[in-house]
This record gives sequence, structure tokens and C-alpha cells, in this order.
Amino acid sequence: MTMASQTWVTFTCGQSGNMDKNAYRIGEECDRQANMRPGCEVEPHVSFEKRCLCSMYLVESLIGTGGGGNVYKAWHTRLNKHVVLKEHKLTHPDSKASAHNEAEALKNVKSMYIPQVFDLFEEEGRCFTVMEYVKGTSYEKALELKMEYTETDIARWYFQLASTLQTIHEKNICHCDIKPSNIMLTSSRDVCLIDFNSAMVEGSPFRVLSCSPGYASPEQLNLFKEHRQGVDASQSIDWKLSDIYSLGATMYHMLTRRSPLENAQRDENLNTSQQFNSVLASAIEKSMNPDPSDRFESAKQLLQTLAITKAKIA
Ligand SMILES: Nc1ncnc2c1ncn2[C@@H]1O[C@H](COP(=O)(O)OP(=O)(O)OP(=O)(O)O)[C@@H](O)[C@H]1O
Ligand SMILES: [Mg+2]
Repeated sequence: MTMASQTWVTFTCGQSGNMDKNAYRIGEECDRQANMRPGCEVEPHVSFEKRCLCSMYLVESLIGTGGGGNVYKAWHTRLNKHVVLKEHKLTHPDSKASAHNEAEALKNVKSMYIPQVFDLFEEEGRCFTVMEYVKGTSYEKALELKMEYTETDIARWYFQLASTLQTIHEKNICHCDIKPSNIMLTSSRDVCLIDFNSAMVEGSPFRVLSCSPGYASPEQLNLFKEHRQGVDASQSIDWKLSDIYSLGATMYHMLTRRSPLENAQRDENLNTSQQFNSVLASAIEKSMNPDPSDRFESAKQLLQTLAITKAKIA
């Protein structure tokens, strides 16, 4: 999947999307630079807590902050249920189009493992996406809290996420920013893939180019660097294979509890360490091959392998 006719409007290089005080340690410098680009000035913080937006959404609390803005839990006063309001600041002419990107990516996707998008609205110069509230915690938080889980859990989650990738890739949508802060572990111990801000949607003229160190594929990282240096990176990368890499890197972190960034120069591959289940380790290693042509060739192929892996580990 290429991006030939798309314009990249925002650049982010973040590590995390939650409210942890250490959340920006890796991406901090890049984020600051991105925010200093002309037309991208940081706006003063506006809190919408305790307010009723769009005469319908009663904002209860701030549950996350990210590159795009704040994420609130709110009460939908007509449907009587919780929803999430994701704020996008409209700071430059293209930001409205990019704010719509996530809703555009998700509006026609149906999956158990992706939040449903309900609405988009504007209030006080802010644009909000209304989506399903996912009860749970992010993988990032689960790692931080040293939450207990087994290799069987990891194999099941990997399978669920690969099936999600298959669903979106079939619609020519690529996530482009899979990492622990963008995966929720739900209260039923399943997963949910969130944050389609940077998603590549076929036919959409705008997109956000992001790059999360450790999780971005080597080819995505190169593209990002070239763009920052002003090189016209008109050549493209295969974003589907890049998603497979990022998912592998995320599962690597879950399995080893070590960040793929800290452990970038892996002297020993997962398999030879014999510390982990070998079929699971092989799937992760293959997904994280630096050469895209040596990875799984599609999410479908990854899914087939994981079906066997899951059966063997159960
Ligand atoms: N649908 C949801 N249900 C529950 N919590 C959510 C939901 N969407 C987002 N969150 C919470 O808000 C945090 C930030 O959300 P998200 O990653 O979508 O924002 P972001 O602005 O794109 O962040 P970043 O740019 O840092 O990736 C998530 O890590 C999660 O904790
Ligand atoms: Mg995020």
C-alpha cells in the first residue's frame, strides 16, 4: 500500500499516550520540535472537565493526553452510556482534515478489537471524535504495573491483534503506530487496538506521519528521518509489512518485558535464548525481521501461524 497522493500534515515522534509523568521521555525532543513548526504552536491547556459538550456529552474526567490533544471519559446523556471524547486541536489549516483521519479510518470498520466511532463535532475551536469507551488499561500501563499474564495470554492477544490487522488491511487501512500505549487490555482480558490518528486510509488526502522509536519498523524510521531533513521521500514503504513489524515489537515487549528500543541490538534472538515458548518466539522474530521481505507476507499469513501457535501453547 503506497501513499503517493497523500500530504503529510503533522509529525509526531512519541513514545506514549497516557498521563504517566515519564510518558514523553523518549519522544520529548521530537515532540517539542514538531510543536515549534510554523502554524503548529502549542495552545494553552483548556480543560473540558465537568462540562456538557454538544449539549449531549457530559465530560467526567481526563483519561489520557497524547500528541493530538486530550482524551476524556464522558457520559452520553441520550444513550446513557460512557463514551470517549478525543480532542484534536485545530491549530493550522490542515489540522481539521487530519483530525478527521481517525474517524475516517474507523467509520466502516467492524471489529471486536477496535473501538466503534460514533460522531465528530466541533466546539470552541476544538474538534472531537466520539468513540466507544474501552474499559481497561493500556499495555503500557500493564507493563509498568508489572501485571501478571502468561504466554498463553500473549499468544491469544497476538492472534486477536493479527486478526484485527487482517480486517483493516483488507480495507486498505494501515494503523502505522502500533505500540503498547495504543493497545488496551480490556476488563474481559481481551485486547483493543486504539489510536488511528496516524492511520493510512486509502483515498484520504491527509495523514499524520508518526514514528515511535523501538516500535516503528526500520523503513518507517528512515522515512521519518528523511522527512525531518526535508528530503522528498516520495518513494514509499509497504505499510502493511510495517504494521506487522510494529505488532511484533509490541509483543516482544510484552513477552520479554524489555523495551525493543532498550534492546535494539539484540545479541541473542528470542529463540536461542530458550527462555520463551519457541513457537511464539519464532513468530515474533519473523515479524521483526529488519528486512520486510523476510517477515510474514501478510496479516493473514501471520494469523495462520498464530492459530497453530495458540493451539500449541493452550
Ligand atoms: N476508546 C478509548 N477507551 C478508553 N481509553 C482510551 C480510549 N482511547 C484512548 N484512551 C486512553 O487515552 C490514551 C491516549 O489515547 P490515544 O492514544 O488515542 O491519544 P493520542 O492523542 O493519539 O496519543 P498519542 O499521540 O500519544 O499516541 C490511551 O493510551 C488510553 O489510555
Ligand atoms: Mg496514542
